[in-house]
Amino acid sequence: MTTHTNGPLACRRKGPLRGTIEVPGDKSISHRSLLFGALASGETRVRGLLDAEDVHSTRKAVVALGATVREEGDEIVVVGPEKLREPGDVIDCGNSGTSLRLLTGVLSGIPGLAVLTGDASLRKRPVRRVIDPLRKMGANLSARDGDRLPPVVIRGGPLRGARHVMEVASAQVKSAILLAGLFAEGETSVVEPERSRDHTERMLRGMGVPVRVNGLEVAVSAARPRGTRVDVPGDISSAAFFLCGAAALPGSKVTVRNLGVNETRTGLLDVLRAMGAKVTLEGAREIAGEPRADVTVEAAELRGTEIRGAVIPRLIDELPVVMVMATQARGRTVIRDARELRVKESDRLAAMGETLARAGAKIELYDDGCAIDGPTPLRGVPVQTRLDHRIAMSMAIAQLLTGGDEVVLDDVACVATSFPSFFRLLDQVAAGAAP
Ligand code: S3P
Repeated sequence: MTTHTNGPLACRRKGPLRGTIEVPGDKSISHRSLLFGALASGETRVRGLLDAEDVHSTRKAVVALGATVREEGDEIVVVGPEKLREPGDVIDCGNSGTSLRLLTGVLSGIPGLAVLTGDASLRKRPVRRVIDPLRKMGANLSARDGDRLPPVVIRGGPLRGARHVMEVASAQVKSAILLAGLFAEGETSVVEPERSRDHTERMLRGMGVPVRVNGLEVAVSAARPRGTRVDVPGDISSAAFFLCGAAALPGSKVTVRNLGVNETRTGLLDVLRAMGAKVTLEGAREIAGEPRADVTVEAAELRGTEIRGAVIPRLIDELPVVMVMATQARGRTVIRDARELRVKESDRLAAMGETLARAGAKIELYDDGCAIDGPTPLRGVPVQTRLDHRIAMSMAIAQLLTGGDEVVLDDVACVATSFPSFFRLLDQVAAGAAP
């Protein structure tokens, strides 16, 4: 099968999945290295930066704010100006919620006017969750549709620290607030209902910013980060497609080397184990403040499990492909407390629920999750990818579970937002294309 990155794509691969791969750099850490590097004094050198559209959006944004970003061998070097400047034009964040939300926090503290927008998917995603807390800090911002949706207009100025108690666990909102806190007078703190990914806290610390963590509360005061070295591990959210595919396809065994295994991100490994897959970690090490390991998953008879509560933010982006895997597990898999799936790049509960049901899954949808009864054979179906990379990749894995049927993805351009080499890697580990 050839690699396509645009337009429709017919998938006709066959399992099992076998081999050792590396996946591209972690998207969350990549965004942060560019943005924090732009805020920092001195230079930030980044190895393993994700080369994908979402990260390009952040890169273009920091350049528009006066930073320079250059390639030097296999490193990306980011140098910020003394003070970031008002951008000369609207900043287009493309498909990237992380770019838009983190930039909203930073721009609240930079004098001048900024407008942030994005593609048709991003312009449907909620921004009040960053606007309300930033206003409490004195920021002057507004957004379309009664402050609900992008574009976001920000008039940066003086900020004061505040304590924020959040209703949803969101690392994007937490990070936007903490970044604004770097410009604010007094302390800024965020209390989360559950722990979300902590890459911001780790990287800011690595850049010399005192970050106080007390249970679910994180606090910072005004500070300028110092340039540092970042080494980006592989993205577990990208590896998830191969790990879940391997768990569900008999005879499979896949190793992903140098994979980020920060415990705020490894909910998937807990779920794979609970479902009966064989998961092993080797060579665990920490580089530049982020743990990583070589992770192997072997196929097994899977059983249904319950996925709810504190694990949800630790695997939120992996849930679409977990839903695919659950169709092959014996018994009932229940996912709850995952209402956030409805406001990702698409409404992922609706998209996966409708698509998997058409493919033959027994699935019941709830407002905040679903129940899937298995195992059920899947059949080939046409799929609308809805500008959502994770829907496209999850259904490319679902195709492998059809035993050779064709799954036609209507547009796979979205895959380039996080994982341009996905189909090539899948060809590498899949046993072959169906005739
Ligand atoms: C991200 C946080 C999560 C996640 C997204 C990346 C981040 O979003 O889904 O893909 O880098 O901070 P929320 O903060 O909306 O939960």
